[in-house]
Amino acid sequence: MMIAYFSWSGHSQAIAEQIQRKVGGDLARIEPIKKYSSEYNICVDEAKRDQANQARPELKKQIENMAQYKVIFLGFPNWWSGVPAPVATFLEQYDFHGKIIAPFVSHGGGGLGRIVSELGRLAPYSTIKEALSIASGGGASLSRSIDAWLKKIGLGKN
Ligand SMILES: Cc1cc2nc3c(=O)[nH]c(=O)nc-3n(C[C@H](O)[C@H](O)[C@H](O)COP(=O)(O)O)c2cc1C
Repeated sequence: MMIAYFSWSGHSQAIAEQIQRKVGGDLARIEPIKKYSSEYNICVDEAKRDQANQARPELKKQIENMAQYKVIFLGFPNWWSGVPAPVATFLEQYDFHGKIIAPFVSHGGGGLGRIVSELGRLAPYSTIKEALSIASGGGASLSRSIDAWLKKIGLGKN
């Protein structure tokens, strides 16, 4: 199993780490070579520009042994109601044919936005499980939300 995540302010990362503690597997951080600004307002503009251009920023790390992973947990923030550009790069860069993708999304109130349909377009030959939607870092109920989701999508430990 792989738990891949992109995270700008740390929420998606914390959720990824908690999922890994529950299901095991390898954590893989998705990072663009050219970082987004650490200033919120600038990052928001950069992300808006990337979305308008359908940018596919180059990523720092290549995963050599992608073929060995059948299940990929994939976490990221809702950015402008959509999938952040580095996650789009990740999905287009590898062959997800026949793989299972279990998405988890951190948002600031907008829920999943257009993310489910965008994922379907970006990874058309995979099975995409129902996405876990978490407001910010999920607070005290995060662990329970993850457990319920894992059970629902059939990937929990019995
Ligand atoms: C560039 C940018 C765009 C965002 N757009 C949205 C949005 O459209 N809807 C929403 O609910 N939250 C939006 N947010 C808030 C993030 O989804 C939220 O803060 C999330 O918890 C961040 O996850 P992270 O810590 O893993 O980066 C945006 C944040 C950033 C930085």
